Amino acid sequence: MDKNFYITTPIYYPSGKPHMGHAYSSIIADIFARFKRIEGYNVLFLTGTDEHGQKIQKEAEKNNKNPKQFCDEISETFRSLTKILNLTNDDFIRTTEQRHYKSVNEIWNRLIKSGDIYLDKYSGWYSVSDEAYYDEDEIIEKNGKKVSLSSGSQVEWVEEESYFFKLSAFQNKLLDHYKKNKDFILPQSRRNEVISFVKKGLKDLSISRTSFSWGIPVPDNKKHIIYVWLDALTNYLSALNFPNTNDIKYKSFWPANIHIIGKDILRFHAIFWPAFLIAAKLPLPKKVFGHGWILSDEKKMSKSLGNILDPIDIVNNYGIDQLRYYLVKEVSLGNDGSVSMENLKNCINNDLANNYGNLCQRVFSFIKKNCNSKIPKSKSLTTNDKKLIDNIKNNVQTLIGLINKQNLNEYIKMVVNFSFEANKYFNDSEPWKFKDKDPDRMNSILYTIVEQIKNISILLSPIIPISTKKVLNTINISDKDILIENIKKDNLLDNSKKLKDLDILFKKIENDN
Ligand code: MSP
Repeated sequence: MDKNFYITTPIYYPSGKPHMGHAYSSIIADIFARFKRIEGYNVLFLTGTDEHGQKIQKEAEKNNKNPKQFCDEISETFRSLTKILNLTNDDFIRTTEQRHYKSVNEIWNRLIKSGDIYLDKYSGWYSVSDEAYYDEDEIIEKNGKKVSLSSGSQVEWVEEESYFFKLSAFQNKLLDHYKKNKDFILPQSRRNEVISFVKKGLKDLSISRTSFSWGIPVPDNKKHIIYVWLDALTNYLSALNFPNTNDIKYKSFWPANIHIIGKDILRFHAIFWPAFLIAAKLPLPKKVFGHGWILSDEKKMSKSLGNILDPIDIVNNYGIDQLRYYLVKEVSLGNDGSVSMENLKNCINNDLANNYGNLCQRVFSFIKKNCNSKIPKSKSLTTNDKKLIDNIKNNVQTLIGLINKQNLNEYIKMVVNFSFEANKYFNDSEPWKFKDKDPDRMNSILYTIVEQIKNISILLSPIIPISTKKVLNTINISDKDILIENIKKDNLLDNSKKLKDLDILFKKIENDN
């Protein structure tokens, strides 16, 4: 079995400070990366910044900086966000790096070689903010301005000499690929959108610009700058040391297992990118997953509405595990979802503090008080104890399946339910009643509940890594043992060592906070 797994986030425009939407894409990808690692995969997780193009050049000019200096500064804020969000990315790519130039040049040359590029003149609409070309029927007039129907951003008329990619020639090849690879675009609804778009017919794509200079020049015609999307998409290969296709990284990790992206950039990833790759005679990624939008109080977050939730503020005030958990619990992956401070607080209190947090704290303090701080051995488990333990063990395959289908919400629901059941079991079994009259029974109850805490913590570790590590370390399970395969093992609990101390896991949030 192929035990390598390559997962990517979009590379972010360093045009302003990172916001919740960026944090969301990255957190989702990190959760899948972490899950695959504890499943035993050798994971490569890539993120980075997309630094060329007119949008960045303009933003730099506005700030009176040269584009490189501007990118150096803002890219650094995205790099530090990876630490703040506790991401486990193995690499951080910047499109202004040498390794990326080499790779983009090779892609361009391969497209020339395959005969899929020609020189002509582009005239049409362009949105600098989206770095995208739009057809006449994709724009509307709003307050006297032409804007894109899908993104609402302003478009301008462009007329200039341009190299074109023969995208029109790839319509059938793409449709064929979608048909043969049902999971290439997920979720299903997005797949349908892409298929019907491609079926309407594809136009050749302008892949160079001459009206600005910030980007990678076309190899044999330096007055042209390569279209920023052709440049940006290639990052996924640059990080594998492409064009050296004999490189161990390229050999191990291409084709990528999954590109995690937002739905707004689906067309680039599900149409342009596979077409470029087919033309370049390279294998296609296995999956493109387009998640929905994070809305703030039902509205799209935007500077003008003043409803932007700053991920860094939230992490500082409530904690990173809390933000990670909330985003994936609250928003159904694939659909748009609204977030609010009110819901965040409720979620921290109900799911984290009252459920999982409370379970761990009360069980550990009971063991400290009554069992000399050691997890008791169990002489015999009742059918009910076994049923509880087996319920998680027997569902491991189902849970892996949910993650492989990116069904994070169902996954979390199941795991939270295990935690709920464990709390209930502890209440209903009343171990305190057996302390004197039947210590063996008390020990079996405690053993059962710690086994559950161990397994629930392993399952939650990709989502709330800091808290689960604290819990597992308290029961003397080391980081290297945080593995899915250890859910099935009965002998991981060490009865000889004392429990470590555990601070409060999740502080309850008061309502006026
Ligand atoms: N630079 C391109 C991506 C190139 S990938 C080869 C880009 N960058 S971006 O910074 O504008 O956006 C990056 C990601 O953030 C996109 O996937 C986008 O969908 C996501 N989000 C930005 N705002 C968002 C929300 N409000 N909600 C969820 N994600 C959104 O596009």
